[in-house]
Amino acid sequence: MAHSQECPAKSFSTRDAVTRERESRRSGIMDSKDVDLSVALGRLRLRNPVMPASGTFGYGKEYSDFLNLQDLGAILVKGTTLHPKIGSFQPRFTEIARCASFLNIGLQNVGVENFISDKLPYLRQFGTPVIVNISGESVDDFIKLAERLDHTPGVSAIEINLTCPNVKEGGVQFSANPDMTFRVVQSVRNATGLAIISKFSPSGADSTVLAKACEEAKADAVCPNYNIVGMAIDIHTRRSKLGKNLMGAVGGPWKKLSLSDWYGRWLRRFESL
Ligand SMILES: Cc1cc2nc3c(=O)[nH]c(=O)nc-3n(C[C@H](O)[C@H](O)[C@H](O)COP(=O)(O)O)c2cc1C
Repeated sequence: MAHSQECPAKSFSTRDAVTRERESRRSGIMDSKDVDLSVALGRLRLRNPVMPASGTFGYGKEYSDFLNLQDLGAILVKGTTLHPKIGSFQPRFTEIARCASFLNIGLQNVGVENFISDKLPYLRQFGTPVIVNISGESVDDFIKLAERLDHTPGVSAIEINLTCPNVKEGGVQFSANPDMTFRVVQSVRNATGLAIISKFSPSGADSTVLAKACEEAKADAVCPNYNIVGMAIDIHTRRSKLGKNLMGAVGGPWKKLSLSDWYGRWLRRFESL
């Protein structure tokens, strides 16, 4: 591939993986396959718990020079909408304090039909469960996406991006309201037998209330770690660094903030039991 010349990273093939396994067996060293790392997310069973965050891993192929996609517990593809989206204008990304970033991607993606015809066939060959992150502007969009992905060979689960703006209700995030969250998840549940992960942000409503709503709507799992909302100002132009005032804050310290939010609101309760 074009970029393999510029990048020193090793590329892996299925043959490499088989050779590595044979060598480690011959030498008596324990291989990762000797250890059961499997996890269950509701009805979804994974070989191991390692999976990329949606949107950070493209459609998987982009990273196939850097790791063997068979080694992952699951492949999570970028946010998928009913129709293709070109995404936000540039720049979409800015680094702050050399440790974290703000982004404004605007859900650039090829749309569900192109995903199924052009991207999914490549991913199927690895036998690794594929989780499709879905984004909609209305409850109807989520239902149509779930119905389209249901029974699509190679799709193992759906991750619902509940931070999308609900256009019919004035653009407020679906996850800003636990009742709306329940409605979306329940509608998707009725539309598919696939495993469902409900994804929301610590910047929205109380994560524990949202998690409860998702559980009652029969989601298999929750991902409470969508981007925190943030803002970065260019001191020279006195305007936002990305041309949009509120942006997604990713990486670095934000993960610690969402972990502490989750711990403070939820896990601490169990410690006192
Ligand atoms: C470039 C980029 C694109 C993303 N696209 C999506 C997306 O399409 N759907 C989604 O649910 N989350 C998306 N996210 C959010 C990530 O999946 C993740 O929830 C977020 O980055 C928080 O994790 P972190 O603090 O470890 O960065 C995106 C993040 C990045 C950095």
